Amino acid sequence: MRLVGFLVIVLLLTASCTSVDPTASAIEVYEQACARCHGNSMGGGVGPALGPGSDAESKPDESLLTAITNGRARMPSFRNQLTEAQIRGLVEYIRTVQRDG
Ligand code: HEC
Repeated sequence: MRLVGFLVIVLLLTASCTSVDPTASAIEVYEQACARCHGNSMGGGVGPALGPGSDAESKPDESLLTAITNGRARMPSFRNQLTEAQIRGLVEYIRTVQRDG
């Protein structure tokens, strides 16, 4: 029983730290958490462009994952807002936009 209680507390704590709906698809996460700095179509703004022809296009996935997880310069860290799966989903979404415009 103690273990169950502990797990419930861990789940509650994890849920309360997540400001973005964990079931939101990558595109929704992007719109909620990233578009205000990187632009609606990844054309850039406060942050650099991420779409086709951007610097991010020529960087490895690891570099993008690290930037999103830890933050970089004026970009905040998303470690406490997003799950690792969501961050990977975002990188996949960014790659899709880079390929298809
Ligand atoms: C407060 C504004 C802001 C928000 C919100 C933000 N970013 Fe950024 N982002 C930046 C800035 C500024 C940089 C450039 C940092 C630097 O100078 O290296 C950056 C850099 C990046 C990079 C690295 C680009 C490269 O060429 O290496 C990626 C990838 C990235 N952001 C993705 C995201 C994603 C995905 C989100 C949403 C989860 C997000 N950003 C939210 C401002 C922001």
